[in-house]
Amino acid sequence: MKLRIFSGSASQNLAFKVFKALIKKESTEPWLKKIKTELGRANIKRFPDGEAYVRILSRVEKGEYAVIINTTSKPQDSNLMELFFLTQKLKEMGATTICISPYLAYSRQDREFEEGEVVSSRAVAEIISNFADFFITVNPHKEHILNFFRIPAFALDASSEIANYFSRYFAECADKNEEVCILAPDKGSFDFAKRVAGSLKCDSCDCLNKRRLAPGKVITEEKEIGAKDKHVLIIDDIIDSGSTITEAVRIIKEENPRKINVACVHGIFSGNAIARIYASDVSKLVSTDTIPSEVSKISVAKLIADKLKEVIK
Ligand code: R5P
Repeated sequence: MKLRIFSGSASQNLAFKVFKALIKKESTEPWLKKIKTELGRANIKRFPDGEAYVRILSRVEKGEYAVIINTTSKPQDSNLMELFFLTQKLKEMGATTICISPYLAYSRQDREFEEGEVVSSRAVAEIISNFADFFITVNPHKEHILNFFRIPAFALDASSEIANYFSRYFAECADKNEEVCILAPDKGSFDFAKRVAGSLKCDSCDCLNKRRLAPGKVITEEKEIGAKDKHVLIIDDIIDSGSTITEAVRIIKEENPRKINVACVHGIFSGNAIARIYASDVSKLVSTDTIPSEVSKISVAKLIADKLKEVIK
């Protein structure tokens, strides 16, 4: 049995890391040796007018697994088309297709907020369900979007990966008797922040109250967190314009914390969000590699490899 990993142009590095993680697992899980894991080859390019061209170069045999990884951050529509095209062709060639978009575009339009609006995430899910046998994403903004798929669809949780990244830092703070606290910048990310806190055995975890005035414009209520002299780790699922984080930093700074660090799963970082966040007095900003960027230091490759193993077993 073969499993081939294909990537669109937006997740080439992550696809390679997933491939390496699966190969590494062969030494500890011998059954995986029966599955020959390879990197798939495809030619992806653009016509002069911008349309995508996709050609599968690997000789795909009926019944083998094809894993297609492409994140669908900016340019969302181009990345989605690559994901659709790769998955459609591999399905047509007879593969069992596992479609992976680590960050799923349009997942914030998860319902009809105003009458007549397209539930964009449902439309995307319906298209993917036409070609894919399985779908995997990481921490979708709202988990109910998984119900929009007509195929088995899974959400992976990167909270443990974020916790692992900060575990040494937290241990060093404990050694120095310096207190830490984890903060969610809004109620929506509180559960996620609590899971990170749980993995780090950090019993101080709180959340702020944020109100969105318009895209990229938020206001957060003043709140006493008790962060004086503490290391504060602000956790969100998505950072887009950076407004949510800079508002949280503005409030927490009033309490004179020792240090403020920020982590998120999906670093969209529109415009100059990274510079804005650093300028607000943040010591460290990291994200996972669901969206590659200069601060995507935490990989979700192992999480994806573990899920693939489960799906193909
Ligand atoms: C929204 O509820 C999310 O959890 C994030 O807080 C939001 O998407 C961040 O957006 P921005 O960086 O533009 O404030």
